[in-house]
Amino acid sequence: MATTGEMDCYEPIERASVDELRSLQQARLREIVAYGYANVGHYRRSFDAAGVAPGDLVDLGDLSRFPLLSKADLRDNYPFGMFAVPRREAVRVHASSGTTGKPTVVGYTAEDIDVWARLMARSIYAAGGRRGDVAHVAYGYGLFTGGLGAHYGAERLGCTVVPVSGGQTERQVTLIADFEPRIILVTPSYCLNLIDEMVRRGMDPVSCSLQVGIFGAEPWTDELRSEIEERLGMDAVDIYGLSEVMGPGVAQECVETKDGPTLWEDHFYPEVIDPGTGEVLPEGSFGELVLTALTKRGQPVIRYRTRDLTRLLPATARTMRRIQRVTGRSDDMLIVRGVNVFPSQVEAEILKVDGLSPHFQIHVDRSANLAALTVRVERDPASDRPAGALSETLVHHIKGNIGVSVEVTVVEPGEVPRSAGKAQRVVSTR
Ligand code: DLL
Repeated sequence: MATTGEMDCYEPIERASVDELRSLQQARLREIVAYGYANVGHYRRSFDAAGVAPGDLVDLGDLSRFPLLSKADLRDNYPFGMFAVPRREAVRVHASSGTTGKPTVVGYTAEDIDVWARLMARSIYAAGGRRGDVAHVAYGYGLFTGGLGAHYGAERLGCTVVPVSGGQTERQVTLIADFEPRIILVTPSYCLNLIDEMVRRGMDPVSCSLQVGIFGAEPWTDELRSEIEERLGMDAVDIYGLSEVMGPGVAQECVETKDGPTLWEDHFYPEVIDPGTGEVLPEGSFGELVLTALTKRGQPVIRYRTRDLTRLLPATARTMRRIQRVTGRSDDMLIVRGVNVFPSQVEAEILKVDGLSPHFQIHVDRSANLAALTVRVERDPASDRPAGALSETLVHHIKGNIGVSVEVTVVEPGEVPRSAGKAQRVVSTR
């Protein structure tokens, strides 16, 4: 397996037999657990407290006896306390913008960056990107892992990378018109802004050069996939990842099947737990995804609670398992009179209503005893259906398909705040 240079095909491991994969995972898991215990104070303390030692890990199932790692554990070790190497051996740090308190920092060795570039190249290839393509990278550059992760991967694949980052929408559209990229890497919500800008300028999005869109960093739905594919005349696929575990490229949907992201199991070992009890659930159950990075050396990640809700699915396009598209994380779940609501479910209903656009926010008023939701959604500029009829239709769909009563306010195009990266779907009004 080449570790440097351009890639122009599948890696053999993507098609390895399940036996081969499991024995590779087992060997890597034993090694990383021993490595974490030997080099990171947190693992030493938490394993000791749980009465487990690296030697107890014989096969993959034994991992469930080891303690889970939470975001709070990472925060408690801010900034470099989870490093397994001397700080000078970390060639890069990224950080996630914690909404509360301190951010979580992640450190990478040169080898970690190399593995990440290779997995991102593999992901872009699986999405349909090829060596020689122009790749427009509109994920944010900086402490966020999206931009640089996509950038290194696209370079590794042999693409011509346009590192635009997020924002400056007008300029992005000019660059797309002039450089004719075949691939775009961007959050789905920001892609909608690019489409709106194309339309505003009188360009026909369908006839632009883009053929492959690699969308992630936030939940999105198959309804939005269809909308984007239709409007841009491209294949739109899902990429999953999180900074604590690496960044983008932990799992990638293959363009030939479009059936949920394939988890790159040679580098990540998945478990699904009951978020309440922490118990590992039987294969295929819906719950919280827990990931162990099998090869990450700078900051080993053993049994990280992602808070992302999904299930493991059998392999299709590769021999590695897939995850069901992540439609929400436990933190984003709204509970309205006992009914769980994810913003992505609201997105799906909005897209079924002819005359509404996919720009929306959910306002939550918790001042009453029971949380009250108001969906603010823009009308589609091309439609002349009256706002009253549109909101009535959406209220009806949400009640019928999600099971909650909400208020809907239909607003004019441009009135819902835009973001250059991840969209803010939920706004607390108290
Ligand atoms: O969002 C990494 C990334 C960048 C992934 C670009 C894909 C593309 P964080 O900022 O640490 O890292 O946020 C990670 O975003 O736990 C999920 O809740 C959510 N997320 C990421 N990808 C998806 C996706 C990057 N495809 C958190 N679908 C994760 C749904 C996603 N949610």
